[in-house]
Amino acid sequence: ASLAALDRTVPMPHRIQDRREPVLGTVQTEFANVSDTDPALPGNVAWSRDILARVPASTAGVATAAAAVVTSEEDLDETLGAAAEAGRGWGALPGKERAAVLRRAAVELERHRAELLEVMAAEAGKTLDQGDPEVSEAIDFANYYASLAEELDDVDGAVARPVPLTVVTPPWNFPLAIPAGSTLAALAAGSAVVLKPASQAVRCGAVLAEALWAGGVPRDVLRLVRVGESQLGRRLVSDPRVGRVILTGAYETAELFRSFRTDLPLLAETSGKNAIVVTPSADIDLAVRDVVSSAFGHAGQKCSAASLVILVGSVARSRRFRDQLVDAVASLKVGLPTDPTSQVGPLIGPAEGKLLRALTTLGPGESWVVRPRQLDDEGRLWSPGVKVGVADGSEYHLTEYFGPVLGIMTAATLDEAIELQNRVAYGLTAGLHTRDAGDIATWLDRVEAGNLYVNRGTTGAIVRRQPFGGWKRSAVGAGTKAGGPNYLVGLTDWAPAMSSA
Ligand code: ALA
Repeated sequence: ASLAALDRTVPMPHRIQDRREPVLGTVQTEFANVSDTDPALPGNVAWSRDILARVPASTAGVATAAAAVVTSEEDLDETLGAAAEAGRGWGALPGKERAAVLRRAAVELERHRAELLEVMAAEAGKTLDQGDPEVSEAIDFANYYASLAEELDDVDGAVARPVPLTVVTPPWNFPLAIPAGSTLAALAAGSAVVLKPASQAVRCGAVLAEALWAGGVPRDVLRLVRVGESQLGRRLVSDPRVGRVILTGAYETAELFRSFRTDLPLLAETSGKNAIVVTPSADIDLAVRDVVSSAFGHAGQKCSAASLVILVGSVARSRRFRDQLVDAVASLKVGLPTDPTSQVGPLIGPAEGKLLRALTTLGPGESWVVRPRQLDDEGRLWSPGVKVGVADGSEYHLTEYFGPVLGIMTAATLDEAIELQNRVAYGLTAGLHTRDAGDIATWLDRVEAGNLYVNRGTTGAIVRRQPFGGWKRSAVGAGTKAGGPNYLVGLTDWAPAMSSA
């Protein structure tokens, strides 16, 4: 079997207890100080400048971000040269020494928690319930990859040869956890990193870099750059000194990167169109809760989000699931990220293109059971929507939208539901709610996705326990899963060890 197949998520029969510590108490107080200046809803959503202005600690990050703007070929050349050079020294260190730095970086990330929550809210619209686990995940990545770096010192039968320079290009939707995970993995594997944060989340990248530098990562071993989608961006990923590019983003972006350089050593985590199947034996209360959190957490803007639910047999015929879902969705609190009670925050930008179409129009046979409404002038705050009657092969069935809209499909049997799930071009996450062991076995065997979740939502993979990565068009340059035991392997070059026999 391929590594990716072996690395599939172990199904969890029951919802696991999240071990992350809630810090809402503290944060609530801090935000309470600014709440009187927040714009009321509905209205405009221009909150971010206000938050950033009120975070003294983030001025360092902002200054770094500003200083990291690379505007010329010469600057970029200097950055890549300095990082590649520093990477050779970093990679020559024993894994244990790099691990010690990463563990200190984990402590620094914890110290920066409040500041990180605030920049995530300000830049990416992350509500506190979404931003807080991201900080924990970044810390988990640092400690976990530190433990893998220690193991790299002594790997049976092969020698891990570090790649001097890795370029990391993360997305805006997990503006901390994803850049942190990719950067920390490359650092653990002995590579220097040039990090190009998403243009919508540059300050998040800057505060992350500040925390890692404070933990002892040398400044040239981690360089931060800010180049647009320009000639310089192309130069960044196609420079021959770059030994790996870690991209998390749209499938089309991975294709674009590959068009820049045919032999590009790319590890890309790309798009998803994910569904949760609910069978007649499912615990309906649990299923509704997990569908709601998977579909509408971070306003549906997660590659792992469920944007379809497929009801099987009697669940499709009875009104119970549907009625409970409608109630739950209609009661979600939509609001600004500065309000600690907000459950659905703003979109990263005004809804447009295919997302606007999905929020405002219906395909043949579809109807709304919860109609989405635009709540602000700008088009960034939307109440969540649920549509029924999504047809096999329809645009809604097959398209990734990245927004607060969920479609309901029905299937006569589990086999039919799996076919609907597998029809999409992507294969990132998939969910099943059932209490039937036979259904679980059938589904695990046949569903085509990287992360399979049984009786759990499809988002929020936990480092080490649920390594994360996709199949089909959800991965390009097939790597192993992030947060899993094989991930560093894909970031090093391997040579067979000299045999003593
Ligand atoms: N790792 C993220 C999740 O599992 C994408 O939701």
